[in-house]
Amino acid sequence: MIRHDVNSRTTHRGPSVLGSLPDDTVVSSNSARCHRACTGEKSGRHLPSGRLPRTEGCAMSQGFAHEPVMLAEILEVFSGMPDGTFLDATLGGAGHAVAVLAAHANVTLLGIDQDDTALAAAASHLDAAGLGGRATLRRARFETVGQVVEGEGIGVVAGALFDLGVSSPQFDVAERGFSYRHDAPLDMRMDRSRGVTAADIVNSAAEEHLARIIATNSDERFAGRIARAIVANRPVRGTSHLAEIVTAAIPAATRRRGGHPAKRTFQALRIEVNQELEILPVALRAAIDVLAPGARLAVLSYHSGEDRIVKSVMREAETGGCTCRAGLPCGCGAVPTVRRVRTRREATPAETERNPRAASARLRAVEKLPTAVR
Ligand SMILES: C[S@@+](CC[C@H](N)C(=O)[O-])C[C@H]1O[C@@H](n2cnc3c(N)ncnc32)[C@H](O)[C@@H]1O
Repeated sequence: MIRHDVNSRTTHRGPSVLGSLPDDTVVSSNSARCHRACTGEKSGRHLPSGRLPRTEGCAMSQGFAHEPVMLAEILEVFSGMPDGTFLDATLGGAGHAVAVLAAHANVTLLGIDQDDTALAAAASHLDAAGLGGRATLRRARFETVGQVVEGEGIGVVAGALFDLGVSSPQFDVAERGFSYRHDAPLDMRMDRSRGVTAADIVNSAAEEHLARIIATNSDERFAGRIARAIVANRPVRGTSHLAEIVTAAIPAATRRRGGHPAKRTFQALRIEVNQELEILPVALRAAIDVLAPGARLAVLSYHSGEDRIVKSVMREAETGGCTCRAGLPCGCGAVPTVRRVRTRREATPAETERNPRAASARLRAVEKLPTAVR
């Protein structure tokens, strides 16, 4: 149960700067014109609590078509959220964020994403829903969440969400290089302004290193064979070439099972390029740290490696890192900072049928203890 109110703060207002976001840009999203065009309403207004804004017909929001996963369950986790700032650390197209703001009239949004295309789409979607004036968007990597929150002068947040991985549009835009479905350069960076690309890795990493990346990041049984085939076929020219190499490296009988044969290798490379598993524990600990007493953190993960990290960080906070033997009273002085929140762990069959991306989703949530001190 949430007992403490959290500081609310003034949101930034200013011109929309869609499409051109320098690092760490603050985007204020408040285009009433877009909202009216998309909803047919006469002027922007706050929506009654719990009702979703009508943006389905908005061309701007359709430009980033990503259905938010386990939305009903996320809204349930945050149903008792006090007034204050909701932190969406993986804003994407703001699908979850728009629904959370619509359900909580006195909550403002601090949205973070490292992808400038996602931030532009989120700004559009928030504008179209008439919620832009309550949103501050920041381009940042989520492991810096502590600094971002502090930089905004917020202190603590009323709730925080991580919806991990990539969004549907990142997969669907060929030139991002995430997908084996379209031929494109092997990029896979969510933040295209820095870092190594998937092409750099497949064309220069040692065979053993490649095999380790593929095995560790995707549990691929044939990682060794795939790494050998990649090295033998260098230079790898693009996504289609890589998909062909991987397919040919996998035994014919296995190729016909479990989706596209290159799916796991592409996932493994994406995780490596974006350092997803290294960053995650740092980010989650930082997010738990900025939760107000009674505030909740919800995390949606999409593969076992991610879920293991989420579970372990949450357990560490739940036990305070206690090292005493199970069943014995704690004598090591550990101080728990959160309690686990019971929630549905997986998407319903109906949602999975409608949105296949939801099939691998796992939801975990914790609540900061009222006694926890920052
Ligand atoms: C699954 S999408 C989120 C979709 C969003 N919940 C919605 O409903 O529209 C994940 C987003 O997180 C972003 N992301 C992934 N890793 C990140 C990181 N380390 N720092 C900041 N953003 C990240 C991606 O760029 C992507 O836009």
